Amino acid sequence: MSNHEKTYLTKANFMLHGGDYNPDQWLDRPDILADDIKLMQLSHTNTFSVGIFAWAALEPEEGVYHFEWLDEIFNNIHSIGGRVILATPSGARPAWMSQKYPEVLRTNGARAKMLHGGRHNHCFTSPVYREKTQKINRLLAERYGNHPALLMWHISNEYGGECHCGYCQDAFRGWLKKKYNNDLKSLNDAWWGPFWSHTFTDWSQIESPSSIGESMVHGLNLDWRRFVTDQTIDFYENEIVPIRELTPEIPITTNFMADTHELIPFQALDYSKFAKHLDVISWDAYPAWHNDWESTADLAMRVGFIDDLYRCLKQQPFLLMESTPSMVNWHPVNKAKRPGMHKLASMQMVAHGSDSVLYFQWRKSRGSSEKFHGAVVDHDNSSENRVFQDVAEVGKTLEKLSDVVGTNRPADVAILYDWESNWALNDAQGYGLKTKRYPQTLVQHYRAFWEQDIPVDVITKEQDFSSYKLLMIPMLYLVSEETIARLKEFVAGGGTLVTTYISGIVNEHDLTYTGGWHKDLQEVFGINPVETDTYYPSDRNSVMYRNQSYELKDYATIIEVNGATVEATYEDDFYSGTPAVTRNEYQGGKAYYIGGRLEDQFQRDFYQGLINDLSLEPVFKVKHDKGVSVQVRQATESDYVFVMNFTEQKQPITIETPVEDLVTGREVSGVLTLEQYEVRILEKKK
Ligand code: GLA
Ligand code: ZN
Repeated sequence: MSNHEKTYLTKANFMLHGGDYNPDQWLDRPDILADDIKLMQLSHTNTFSVGIFAWAALEPEEGVYHFEWLDEIFNNIHSIGGRVILATPSGARPAWMSQKYPEVLRTNGARAKMLHGGRHNHCFTSPVYREKTQKINRLLAERYGNHPALLMWHISNEYGGECHCGYCQDAFRGWLKKKYNNDLKSLNDAWWGPFWSHTFTDWSQIESPSSIGESMVHGLNLDWRRFVTDQTIDFYENEIVPIRELTPEIPITTNFMADTHELIPFQALDYSKFAKHLDVISWDAYPAWHNDWESTADLAMRVGFIDDLYRCLKQQPFLLMESTPSMVNWHPVNKAKRPGMHKLASMQMVAHGSDSVLYFQWRKSRGSSEKFHGAVVDHDNSSENRVFQDVAEVGKTLEKLSDVVGTNRPADVAILYDWESNWALNDAQGYGLKTKRYPQTLVQHYRAFWEQDIPVDVITKEQDFSSYKLLMIPMLYLVSEETIARLKEFVAGGGTLVTTYISGIVNEHDLTYTGGWHKDLQEVFGINPVETDTYYPSDRNSVMYRNQSYELKDYATIIEVNGATVEATYEDDFYSGTPAVTRNEYQGGKAYYIGGRLEDQFQRDFYQGLINDLSLEPVFKVKHDKGVSVQVRQATESDYVFVMNFTEQKQPITIETPVEDLVTGREVSGVLTLEQYEVRILEKKK
């Protein structure tokens, strides 16, 4: 553990509850600021992220600084025993800056210079913007670095997007020169240059991908996306120079995101790289509860998947940095959380490893686009309404969960998520253009374990595989020789590996492997996948597995078997009767290949076999029906068990070992009934 991690865990030995506080929208309303302090206490909140978009209030004119208001906010929060997560303001900038220094504005892919407006739209290379952010960050660190209320740094806000200006083109070329050791030939080789005469003869000819220029060179696209991640991190590293220098003990985070509408991990930045630069992972979770396209349990499962991925980026607790106490303003339909859902959704985050429940935002704005976004304090300024009461109730519960802070969630099962592979797969002009759905496919495999309360780590490729009994790598389209070697080692060491159709197709340059599937994969899996058939949405096939037929859609890979055992066969089409699922014993381990995209029931039954073989078990056994989830956080002396009803019905559950209800303090065992959306938090002393 680094010093920063230690500081984080010891300073915050309580669950953080609170969220984004934007008092700079209310500076002419001292009455409101005074109400805030009273309402913070009434809502059982303790931590506030301040200054996220406050640059215009902090530096209204170039070089003219106003910190008095922020001093007062710090002191107010401190006076009630609260803590501050101090943000750097680079997520949005004052108009004077864009006007005086247009280079801070972004240029889009079509090479159009953007106007001032919106947010999250700076050039990440601009020397002026880098200088300005460092300057204001230094002043903030000097002024508040020793304030007793300061808990953590929140760098910028939701980094994302890209810039294609001249500075960024130069930086990209510099990045490429470094990557390819100044050797243009190796770049041309990696990018398959001769295709369409796309060989470069000078570095200056290279431009970032563009809708009015190049978009078909996949190696270029992939390198550009890598560069965007690296340049975002580089901008962030520039932001934190004065912060690390002046406040080395204060941990740093930045808020990660997910992609919506179908909730999946954020696609545009490779968070596995970014995570290495942070002390604490935090993310902003806005699931569309009560939507009309999926069950509550299915959505909960997808939230759990992202939690498990973000937690595993550092294998330590994370923070829920933003969530809404009621509704957002940007879903297609902004539905209120039904009674019980706020607590359930909040506790689910804690169950998967969050040490906080934080909201966007504390007080609803009066104007502009977020005036109808849910907040703790509504326009009525009341502590009596349903949402405020729900928040206070979550606060009271969190106050009883201090022992959970810092505890982790070990797992024997892992599933690998890879940003680069996803980028390359989405870029591939092949297969079904709309049916690739890599993140969603991973969730299909995660489901079998989530439904049985068996913890899963969602890991990235740099992480150690050896501590897991089972590793799933569905649709791992891009995989380097190095990763293949590590997968081989994992199986040789006794691990069980499962992969699927469209895996092991291209290397790290997005160049296909030649001469059949990679020879190490052929050896480990005992097969050679020879052809992948893509289906129209209405096409169906099926496979026969252990005397049962399972529906197949989207993809079917035809497999040549060289030593593996056939576990299932296709039932239709010109490859009817040929292998669809195979198993191979390789040295000490086993390697399974699933050739087609199969219905959920197949995953359930298939993984049940592995669950039995590998004796995989829930950490704490609760008998329940579908839609109830049990997640456990483990400490040395106790297991903290979260039993959550993600259904609209009452659910009977059975607890075999007596445990203590953390909230009521009473002993619990036997058959209980969970109400709709009810959550119970139990402590099992070891
Ligand atoms: C993001 C931003 C917040 C706010 C919320 C609204 O997460 O970080 O500033 O706009 O969305 O849901
Ligand atoms: Zn730029």
